[in-house]
Amino acid sequence: PHGTAHHGAGPGHGTGPDHGTGAVVVVAAALLDRGRLLAARRSAPADLAGRWELPGGKVEPGERPEDALVRELREELGVEAEPGERIPGEWPLKPGYVLRVWSARLLSGDPLPLEDHDELRWLAPGELDAVDWLDQDRPAVAEAARRLFGA
Ligand code: C5P
Repeated sequence: PHGTAHHGAGPGHGTGPDHGTGAVVVVAAALLDRGRLLAARRSAPADLAGRWELPGGKVEPGERPEDALVRELREELGVEAEPGERIPGEWPLKPGYVLRVWSARLLSGDPLPLEDHDELRWLAPGELDAVDWLDQDRPAVAEAARRLFGA
């Protein structure tokens, strides 16, 4: 939710827009608990509803990506999580938006689909193809699985 592109801080500072490309950065979590990865089914907008994604959202101006990740997981799922490593890569979303992924560890709470989602699933390493991922999330999930599960 929220977040308006602006100009100001430089690259590496983690502001909303990426000054390398001018794209707004959307951060998403490869959220792990007990060896399983959380997948979230979108409830809106209509063209994305029913497809599965790694939970996350837009980085706000001046916000560090890891902080945005923690905020989004708190808002969308009601959990506290600790960001870990960045999953190498960057995946295009709609024009002007790019997806970056961090691993994250569940610290407390049981995820609930509070906002943007209507169903959640914890996937074991062998189940990663069991849900219909958004096209843009599919390569991100594959890369996260390689890094985190050695898949
Ligand atoms: O949740 P929020 O509206 O901030 O997400 C920004 C955009 O990024 C949305 O269009 C959303 O569909 C997209 N997104 C995505 N894959 C994710 C997380 C967000 O395509 N894992």
